[in-house]
This record gives sequence, C-alpha cells and structure tokens, in this order.
Amino acid sequence: MEITDMTLDDLEQMKDTLYSDYDNFWSYNILKQELENDKTKYIIARENNEIVGFAGILIIFDEANLNNIVVKKSCRGRGIGGELLETLIDLCSDLNLKTFTLEVNVENVPAIKLYEKFGFKNLGIRKKYYDNISDAYIMSKTDF
Ligand SMILES: CC(C)(COP(=O)(O)OP(=O)(O)OC[C@H]1O[C@@H](n2cnc3c(N)ncnc32)[C@H](O)[C@@H]1OP(=O)(O)O)[C@@H](O)C(=O)NCCC(=O)NCCS
Repeated sequence: MEITDMTLDDLEQMKDTLYSDYDNFWSYNILKQELENDKTKYIIARENNEIVGFAGILIIFDEANLNNIVVKKSCRGRGIGGELLETLIDLCSDLNLKTFTLEVNVENVPAIKLYEKFGFKNLGIRKKYYDNISDAYIMSKTDF
C-alpha cells in the first residue's frame, strides 16, 4: 500500500464512485473545499494504483482535528484505516502539534475501536452532535 498527499485530481478520479464505494464522509463539494483549504492536510491510500481510502485533518495553531477517515467499503478490516491514522499521527508529531482531537458517533464501533487502538482517549460526550440527533464522543491524543 502507498500513502501520499491527496490532490484535487485524486478527488476527480473518485468522483463517480465516491458515493457507491464509500460512506460516512463529507459530500464531494465539501471535500473539494477541504482540499482547497490551506489549513487542511489530506492523504490517500492506494493499492495497485487503485484508491482505497482517504483521511484528512484541519490544523489550527497547535491542534489537529480529524475531519475525515474513510476506507473503501470492500477493503475494510485489512489495516488501511490504521495506516492512514498512523500517518496522520506521525504528521502531528512532525509538525510539533500538541493535540489531535476528533468526534465520533457513539454508535460507530469500528471507528471508536480504531481510535482506541491508536491511543485516543475519550474526553466526553457532545450531545446531538450529528444532525441534532446522534451523540458524539470527543476523543483526543496528546502523546505523539
Ligand atoms: C473506521 C474505518 C476507517 C476503519 O478502517 P479499516 O481499514 O477497516 O480499519 P483497520 O483494518 O485498519 O482496523 C484497525 C483497527 O480498527 C478497529 N476496527 C476496524 N474495523 C472494526 C470492526 N468492524 N469492528 C471492531 N473494530 C474494528 C480494530 O481495533 C482494528 O484493529 P485490529 O485489526 O488489530 O483489531 C472504516 O470502518 C470506515 O471507513 N468506516 C466508515 C467511515 C467512518 O465511519 N469513519 C469514521 C468517521 S468518525
């Protein structure tokens, strides 16, 4: 697997299959804005030249917030999400950031387990965070 910076060209390449191959990500238009924002950093995973996942953070001062991490539905459970998250953690370390924070739906067990595996700690609940309905855990990591 190869992990590189994600470009607008990568997003265009994924455009037609984004909604069928992935779920739980921000829309195409928002992803495009994310890639154009100079405060974000997005990475992409490829296997045999095929895009299999992407992830991105927003960096404000010395804090990173995880904005997206998504693995292609047919490729989950093979370590790709872990590799993407580890790459972003290494980036936080390289940039000397102090905290890496994220919000996750309290019902999203695979994602919560992934974050716990990489040392994120649950700081508390943000009520009705998603669509004013579902609660989110706020999780954070400070040791890079
Ligand atoms: C969350 C997600 C990115 C994980 O990616 P993945 O490539 O399947 O994860 P990995 O194979 O790297 O697994 C890493 C760890 O995550 C946890 N995990 C992954 N899938 C899991 C599952 N179905 N059930 C429980 N734990 C799971 C495990 O701790 C696993 O470590 P292990 O293999 O040593 O047990 C993927 O499920 C996904 O794209 N989900 C939809 C998008 C999403 O919900 N993103 C998070 C938004 S906050």
